[in-house]
Amino acid sequence: MGFDFNGWDIHVGSPHPFNDRAPRIDNGTGRPDPRRYFDKDWMKAEWDRVWTRTWLLAAVESDLRDPGDFVKFDILDESFIVVRDKNGSLRAHYNVCPHRGSQLILSDFGSIEQFTCPFHSWQFSLDGNNIKVTDAETFDPDVLCHGTDMSSVRCETAAGLVFICMDPEAPSLHDYLGPLVDQLQLYDIGSMNVIHHKQSAWGANWKGGVDAFYELYHLHSVHPQTQAVMDDRTQIDLYPNGMSRQFVPFAQPSPRFPDQTTVNPGIKMMLADAGIDPETFSGTAQESRAAIQSAKRERAKKYNLDYDKFSDTQLSDSTIYGIFPNVQIGCHPEAVFIHRFLPHPTDPEQFTYDNIIAFRHIDAPGYRAPAWMGLSDDVDTTGMIRPEIARVPLGVPPELGEVLDQDSELLPIVQKGARSRGFRGPLWSYQEGRLRHFHTELDRYISGEK
Ligand SMILES: [Fe+2]
Repeated sequence: MGFDFNGWDIHVGSPHPFNDRAPRIDNGTGRPDPRRYFDKDWMKAEWDRVWTRTWLLAAVESDLRDPGDFVKFDILDESFIVVRDKNGSLRAHYNVCPHRGSQLILSDFGSIEQFTCPFHSWQFSLDGNNIKVTDAETFDPDVLCHGTDMSSVRCETAAGLVFICMDPEAPSLHDYLGPLVDQLQLYDIGSMNVIHHKQSAWGANWKGGVDAFYELYHLHSVHPQTQAVMDDRTQIDLYPNGMSRQFVPFAQPSPRFPDQTTVNPGIKMMLADAGIDPETFSGTAQESRAAIQSAKRERAKKYNLDYDKFSDTQLSDSTIYGIFPNVQIGCHPEAVFIHRFLPHPTDPEQFTYDNIIAFRHIDAPGYRAPAWMGLSDDVDTTGMIRPEIARVPLGVPPELGEVLDQDSELLPIVQKGARSRGFRGPLWSYQEGRLRHFHTELDRYISGEK
């Protein structure tokens, strides 16, 4: 198990082209400017040069199945409505009435026939065209000539994910995502239902959140309980436009963990999730991961699931994608974990951690979400109930499970140090190659190179 720029050789099971390492991208050895973590001018530059110019994940497609379905997407001070129009196309508009600027939509999601402004009841079709100016005869036609339709932005989908972009000059979403499109498509996220959605306020810059989620280097220190069930060695793949991938091997103890043989309680739980009886399992802890891969293949045949498209690694592990600028998606055949790092509108030292679980409903007796996903037994997975967004203010524990709660406690400590005059910018290892890749791309936008 050697280490190179792409991380360790971590795969077990059959070789598969999905697992192939991406060609090396050399992001150098520089020490980035730490003002990015706290400076208001930097935050302003990010708005002007990053947020308004990149593709932003606004919704999952399963929340927009039918004409009239909409999702509100807020990013810093802006608000957008993504909606499926009467012809079945997805559209995105600024959440603004052209009359006096009132917001049109106040709820997170829902279904409507048309937009009606709460102020003077102007109406707009789902594709943003004005259909009613109240008391139109009281306007000079030369006033209405300035335009009475909603302002729209680009809206494109890939792999069941809906993105918006404010920049008419930006490349297409498919060109922007590059190789991630085909890889994400394997998971058919569009057919998964959102079964959990929580937004919690954290006391750190949004990039502090990205940084923490982009590496496994901190697991031994911040999340020592993961060492029994999760290998913290990873393969890191970097792709153009700041995109990246890494694998998190599950059901395999970290080499830092003293007992590599005994099937510990955490691994027993993962075996049981895959349909293996942990009490009769005769393998070691080190053999559990491969056993889970085989068991999932067997179960896929029984439930008629299309798992032939997945590598063995994809079956057992978390396959994690970083989508520039602010999204990470942990992919499993059963579900995806979508993390968005949403900057605070005014304070560079706060962000909202947005956490969505989308789950593929399998209508078969005995099939349930893996226990490690931490869902309660009564959660509805059929797609009939789309849970409301739970919101947790700053200073209140987000109750996202032990691991994420540990991160939420640590990040304000990192933030405090990172804003000190004594901190001169991060020093990244190859294990943190995704961070360097992300920040290098960010710097390209900030400097005007992109
Ligand atoms: Fe963490």
